[in-house]
Amino acid sequence: MKQSFTFFVLLNNQIMELLEAIYKRKTINHAFSSKKVSKSDLEKIINSANRAPSHFNSQPWDFILVTDQKVITSIGEIAGDSMEKLISKGEFFKRYLKYFRFSKEEIKSQKSGIHIDKIPFFLRPFIQFVLGEKGISILNFLGVPKILANDQKKIINTSPVLLAFMLKKEEYKPGTKSGIYSLISMGAALQNIWLTATSLGMGLQFVSTPMEVEENWNQILDLLKIPDSHELMAVYRLGYIDQNQDRNTIDWVSDERRNFQDLVSFNYFGGKEKID
Ligand SMILES: Cc1cc2nc3c(=O)[nH]c(=O)nc-3n(C[C@H](O)[C@H](O)[C@H](O)COP(=O)(O)O)c2cc1C
Repeated sequence: MKQSFTFFVLLNNQIMELLEAIYKRKTINHAFSSKKVSKSDLEKIINSANRAPSHFNSQPWDFILVTDQKVITSIGEIAGDSMEKLISKGEFFKRYLKYFRFSKEEIKSQKSGIHIDKIPFFLRPFIQFVLGEKGISILNFLGVPKILANDQKKIINTSPVLLAFMLKKEEYKPGTKSGIYSLISMGAALQNIWLTATSLGMGLQFVSTPMEVEENWNQILDLLKIPDSHELMAVYRLGYIDQNQDRNTIDWVSDERRNFQDLVSFNYFGGKEKID
């Protein structure tokens, strides 16, 4: 006899079915509501992270919740500066152009990547050229690095909380098994954070640009006083979602996914057998 199960993310007054939370979860590119994040919601988020599986229940992580506006503003400045450096030197597009799609048709056929669907009118006619390696000087002439940097700064500065995810170096040793296990554990913990945030009407966005500029990343390590015992793995913006906030000047969506048939082989790689 078939049994059906209903899973819930949280068993209190804010219940969201697990599958609903999984499908609703998304990266929030725009500003959050200015509402302060409650201590109880922050506790739910961190405790849910710590319910994630980890090798031998090692819980190889620690977190910093940044709510001090001065620190948030400083991180916003560093992230904006990182964005400007990355874009103006062409590094960003050199590394990541392969993930960019410029039309609905393109992302629908590729089923992966991000669709740059919001672009100022003056960039539109030659967007593909501008975002290519050769177009960096045009990009700089049109002030695109500054536009992106300002958007980045603004959405970070107005975030009520930044969350720093650290792994303990005694567990996270790159090139070792426990290093791999720590990364697998971290992925599970992050997804718990993200789903719990979703169920609470909150959103997250990875603030990754400073990671790409070594001197800027070092500034963040200093600002957050990360000890030698820990590796800072990621910084996220966190807050309650407000759908009325404006989108960034240049923005993207990434709703497309490959489907079951694209993802799965049967019994061996490339195997075509079907399941009933
Ligand atoms: C390792 C990693 C790095 C990411 N870096 C960024 C980032 O720098 N900025 C950003 O807005 N989103 C970042 N993302 C979010 C992805 O772009 C996003 O998850 C993907 O496009 C799917 O969109 P969704 O999260 O809305 O489903 C990152 C996600 C991961 C897992």
